[in-house]
Amino acid sequence: MKLFARKHDPAADIEDIRRAGKLPAHIAIIMDGNGRWAEKRGLPRNAGHARGSENFDRIATVCSDMGIRYLTVYAFSTENWKRDKAEVDGIFDLFRKYLKKSCDEMVERNVKLRIFGDTSPFPEDIIALIDRAAELSEQTTGMQVNVCINYGGRDELVHAARSLARDAAEGRLSPDAVDAAMLESRLYSAGVPDPDLLIRTGGDMRVSNFLLWQIAYSEFYVTDTLWPSFTKEELCHAILSFAGRDRRFGGYGKSRSGRK
Ligand code: IPE
Ligand code: IPE
Ligand code: MG
Repeated sequence: MKLFARKHDPAADIEDIRRAGKLPAHIAIIMDGNGRWAEKRGLPRNAGHARGSENFDRIATVCSDMGIRYLTVYAFSTENWKRDKAEVDGIFDLFRKYLKKSCDEMVERNVKLRIFGDTSPFPEDIIALIDRAAELSEQTTGMQVNVCINYGGRDELVHAARSLARDAAEGRLSPDAVDAAMLESRLYSAGVPDPDLLIRTGGDMRVSNFLLWQIAYSEFYVTDTLWPSFTKEELCHAILSFAGRDRRFGGYGKSRSGRK
């Protein structure tokens, strides 16, 4: 009877996974489907982004409570500028609101916040909030949340290449000294381990320019659920799926162990 109850309790499953040392240290999420969620309900797309933002807050708390070390979310891509100005403005208003709330609650919640992306076109008040969040993050020790905004994987690699080329041109770096670790140190994600698990909501089987370098060996979980409807239970399901996989990293994996 007890066994049966445990089988249907996702929190107990997560506890078992933690004890087995199989909890992903880093979860990345492509939070897609806000527009479709709103359109299905006859609401403006921005209503979907507002619900998506609330859900992000909820899921981030769940991850932090579970003991996840890093959570990286895709909030706005370098290609999302193609959308109507009203939609883009709405997303940036939500981002501003999120940054203010994060600064107010970060120490109490004991989380860190970092922004990945090209922040150069952002308004001054948003830059000030990002700087404030970075300062507060020095006092906290818990989960690190990385929000990707005006982020593109290709843009990140161009930015890193430019920074290495500048150092080489100015004589601070020999081209032959460039290796993977050095390139990584110039990415927005410098110092953060690669994602173990990459979740995409909204059902599309594509990467859409997200973390192109970092997801080399990430495990994928794609669900048709639209982001505002993605729940704690489904997150547990994704982690359960992750924990059951054989990560071979180009080697042999479990089926071979013990054999010569
Ligand atoms: C994801 O939701 C959020 C952003 C890209 C800013 P979408 O707005 O892409 O939602 P769909 O894919 O159109 O449903
Ligand atoms: C990816 O979603 C970007 C974010 C979730 C922020 P998109 O909706 O922009 O991706 P595509 O256009 O369907 O590939
Ligand atoms: Mg989309």
